[in-house]
Amino acid sequence: MNVVQEENARLRWVTLNSTEATVDEGATIIQGLQQTPKTLPCQYFYDDRGSQLFEQICDLPEYYPTRTEQAILETYAPEIAQLTGACELVELGSGSSRKTRLLLEAYSQANEHLQYCPIDVSAGILKTTALELLRQYPKLKLCGLAGTYEQALDQLPPAEMENRMLIFLGSTIGNLNQRECDRFLKQVQTALKPGEFFLLGVDLQKDPAILEAAYNDAQGVTAAFNLNILSHLNWRFQSNFDLDRFKHWAFYNPVDHQIEMHLRSLETQTVALKTLGFDTTLQAGESIHTEISRKFHLPTLVETLETFALQPLQVWTDPNHWFGLLLCQRQCISDECP
Ligand code: TRP
Repeated sequence: MNVVQEENARLRWVTLNSTEATVDEGATIIQGLQQTPKTLPCQYFYDDRGSQLFEQICDLPEYYPTRTEQAILETYAPEIAQLTGACELVELGSGSSRKTRLLLEAYSQANEHLQYCPIDVSAGILKTTALELLRQYPKLKLCGLAGTYEQALDQLPPAEMENRMLIFLGSTIGNLNQRECDRFLKQVQTALKPGEFFLLGVDLQKDPAILEAAYNDAQGVTAAFNLNILSHLNWRFQSNFDLDRFKHWAFYNPVDHQIEMHLRSLETQTVALKTLGFDTTLQAGESIHTEISRKFHLPTLVETLETFALQPLQVWTDPNHWFGLLLCQRQCISDECP
């Protein structure tokens, strides 16, 4: 048996049903561009180029979240494996799975079965990463899901193991507003059975100067990443955004405790999204709101999680308290358990 066949025996791809979402896709974009201020759905950051740029962001000197979360995982991954025991790892927004490798390492050291389901909207990075991981871990069984979080949580394939841990790192939960966050946590509550785990990484409130630097790096990678959402729309919907006529703009909003990311139009211009049959006019100085990145207060977050039957068992942070990692367990509610 050659290596490729052997690898494929441990690899499964699940295609998520996207018909409804595809119809919806155009509608959300149009709806966003009709609002004041204009907005765009943040999943469009992550085409293959966007995923590559995001990987570069993770290595920037100013962008502390990735390396801080990584350091927490380096210290506590063995403890996490010990607390949960054997379980299937399901990761939302897995990207290059670089931090998850620390967990795979810990579970494999503990001699647990290794079953991993990475989920990402970018099929390209998902495939490359899956093949790399199979090569690295000879006992790993992998089930890749290409799709959005919403689709994935709705259509999660039945667990292959007795227990399961849903993983959501990188403070991606901070990219959801309060309403979206509540809807997301409700979906997590529904997707998990009592006793199953939820591992959540969150960026914490801190000096605004540190936060603003993290989203305005000197090399301009974050700017390129923000602008790439327009290139993505250009190839996907045959639109004609001219990237030279927009400028990246990110700042901290201390009232809502969030970084806000915008693309500011440098002149008055009309853009056509051909496949959607939709035109939009921007005034000079008008901006499209592309992303928020909320920064959390741990005690408040713990309370929120508890209202969704997700009980934090352990909370870890780094020495500066810049980033938090929470291991939660799905509780029984009403008549779920005897
Ligand atoms: N989840 C990341 C964060 O909130 C996403 C991110 C980092 C991001 N840099 C960005 C999103 C720049 C848009 C633009 O930190």
